[in-house]
Amino acid sequence: MTSIVEMKGLFDITGKVGVVTGAGSGIGQAIAYAFAAHGGKVVASDKNGETLDKTVREIRASGNSAIGVEADSTAVEEVRRLREEALGAFGRIDVLYAVPGINVRKRIADYGYDEFDRVVQVNLKGTFILIKEIGGEIAKNGDGGSVVVMSSIRGSVIEQGQAAYAATKAGVALLARVQAAELADRNVRVNALAPGYVDTPLVARIKNDPEWYRQSTQRNALKRWASPKEIAGPAIFLASPAASYITGTVLYVDGGWTAVDGRYDPKL
Ligand SMILES: NC(=O)c1ccc[n+]([C@@H]2O[C@H](COP(=O)([O-])OP(=O)(O)OC[C@H]3O[C@@H](n4cnc5c(N)ncnc54)[C@H](O)[C@@H]3O)[C@@H](O)[C@H]2O)c1
Repeated sequence: MTSIVEMKGLFDITGKVGVVTGAGSGIGQAIAYAFAAHGGKVVASDKNGETLDKTVREIRASGNSAIGVEADSTAVEEVRRLREEALGAFGRIDVLYAVPGINVRKRIADYGYDEFDRVVQVNLKGTFILIKEIGGEIAKNGDGGSVVVMSSIRGSVIEQGQAAYAATKAGVALLARVQAAELADRNVRVNALAPGYVDTPLVARIKNDPEWYRQSTQRNALKRWASPKEIAGPAIFLASPAASYITGTVLYVDGGWTAVDGRYDPKL
């Protein structure tokens, strides 16, 4: 029998230690703020030291706990240093958010091999390094934890010019599934978030192009982009006890983009 009392704390992450990468901007920054706002201890990381400092300053100014570690997620030694600094500050790691991602939008015919490598390096290899080095540490806890990687609607539905990005976003979702299987015996849950368009610097070029922006807002059921906060909520949920039976899944946070084809409302 369930009881009201056991429902308390379902969404509680108080005292959990979360490593949030890509925390200097956009979605990563929102996740870092949300994790702190809900009582978690934040290890914020980014390769951009300046924007990272701002995130850490904001969290501390709000009376919450955070350290900042400047690190490039594609460099194994830097990710190991990030892990060690997190352990040095807080003694353990409960949650990892593997967030950094970049995009080069070009048709395949025009795509440079160096550009392809760069996108794969950050989005796929960087995520792999993070989940291997830090997910592996979470697995040592003995009482479980949560790993969240950043996929995208582009991991399943695409548009022209998204070759490398789409392939990497499908790839990270499958990385999450494999690690979910491999760490299940240690109760570490591994999931992917798949947002639609979120208002961040990554997609500023689309927002600045009126026709492209208009089209991109019309192709989902809610007819708008998400704010970073709307991705942070599901990210915190995945780290909370409320998600204790969720692993190996891709959670779409896309305003209905992948549910509707967005072409026409026949007004029946
Ligand atoms: N914004 C969207 O519409 C959208 C939609 C779906 C998925 N996503 C994904 O969400 C994630 C975050 O995107 P965002 O929109 O917040 O982007 P953003 O550009 O605003 O922020 C990305 C952050 O990652 C950092 N970063 C980049 N490369 C790094 C590296 N090698 N090591 C460490 N840090 C690095 C950047 O310095 C930046 O602070 C990405 O994986 C992106 O693909 C974004």
